[in-house]
Amino acid sequence: MHDLRVELGERSYPIHIGAGLIGRAELFAPHLGGKSVALVTNTTVDPLYGAKVEALLKSLGKKVIKVVLPDGEAYKNWETLNLIFDAMLSGGADRKTAVVALGGGVVGDMAGFAAASFMRGVPFIQVPTTLLSQVDSSVGGKTGINHPLGKNMIGSFYQPLAVIADTDTLKTLPPRELAAGLAEVIKHGAIADAEFFAWVEDNIGALNACDTQALSHAVKRSCEIKAGVVAQDERETGSRATLNFGHTFGHTIEAGMGYGEWLHGEAVGCGMVMGGDLSRRMGWISAGDLARIRKLVAAAHLPVVAPDLGRELWLALMRGDKKSEGGEIRFVLLSKLGRAVMATAPQDALDATLADGVRAAPVEA
Ligand code: NAD
Ligand code: GLY
Repeated sequence: MHDLRVELGERSYPIHIGAGLIGRAELFAPHLGGKSVALVTNTTVDPLYGAKVEALLKSLGKKVIKVVLPDGEAYKNWETLNLIFDAMLSGGADRKTAVVALGGGVVGDMAGFAAASFMRGVPFIQVPTTLLSQVDSSVGGKTGINHPLGKNMIGSFYQPLAVIADTDTLKTLPPRELAAGLAEVIKHGAIADAEFFAWVEDNIGALNACDTQALSHAVKRSCEIKAGVVAQDERETGSRATLNFGHTFGHTIEAGMGYGEWLHGEAVGCGMVMGGDLSRRMGWISAGDLARIRKLVAAAHLPVVAPDLGRELWLALMRGDKKSEGGEIRFVLLSKLGRAVMATAPQDALDATLADGVRAAPVEA
């Protein structure tokens, strides 16, 4: 097991990464003070792992209020969030009732927002079961839901008390979801660690094949990078925004296509190619570096060609991005491979990136 820590003063917390962790009661016990626990999961994850976690919680003497949400990004909304509050209130939850999120980023983001707002805040534990949630969404305390006019627009910062990432759960992940998680792994290399980016290039075959050792290293290094960024800038007043490389384009694809059409990771993968393209037009990264990004995204079985939303919709949705200021779109771009910066871009460069982004270009062999 790897043990990391997100250093946030009195709100610091451990990240446990390893095989078989959803059977380890001692990792959960220190964070469960109340008599009951709200176990929030979804219709796909519940039949796989719900019973095991429920049994563990019961073995600790807890009454379990189980909340099984409908599965999918399209359900990351007010109506579904309310199901958690309904179940907690009718199940007799109180201020000490911990919320345990068992599932991917959608369950984690919604359960976290419920924990942040139920009785103004109750304890929260993340048990991520997708690669994307293990390498990214379970760490750092961003919680929330989507709005038809923008991705993750309603939410709060609310840190968990612990992240318990059982790498065995990745064995049941469909290949498309594994690929989606690899997008965020590639992102961590691109923004913060060129050596790790090269490691992902060298090990993409093993990662695609769900090799346990390769995945464990990818989860560990990603969590180290993310934990370091979050410790510096928890509330995204500056450097945390670099974690959004590829996301201005990606969130636009998700909202523009309708939530759930493209997976978040797929949109981020394609968004990183577009972000790389814009970085090259700014004169910061070379054509060779852009080719490496495109090739790695494609090798992870992620899309590299964007949907043709039309220039006006692209720009309107990007102007609504949370990083925009006064209607001016602010991008996370690469000053070099392994280093990210916030920047605005000249309109002609952005137009060229949008035009080229929707055109299929050959990926170098
Ligand atoms: P997801 O939660 O929709 O999970 C993907 C699919 O895999 C779902 O169908 C899910 O039911 C299923 N699943 C989960 N675990 C499984 C398992 N072990 N075996 C088989 N199937 C399993 O998607 P995701 O990619 O995990 O997360 C995407 C969400 O995370 C987006 O809403 C995105 O906005 C959010 N996100 C949040 C942050 C953050 O910092 N909070 C960061 C990145 C992404
Ligand atoms: N996924 C971006 C962040 O957590 O800040």
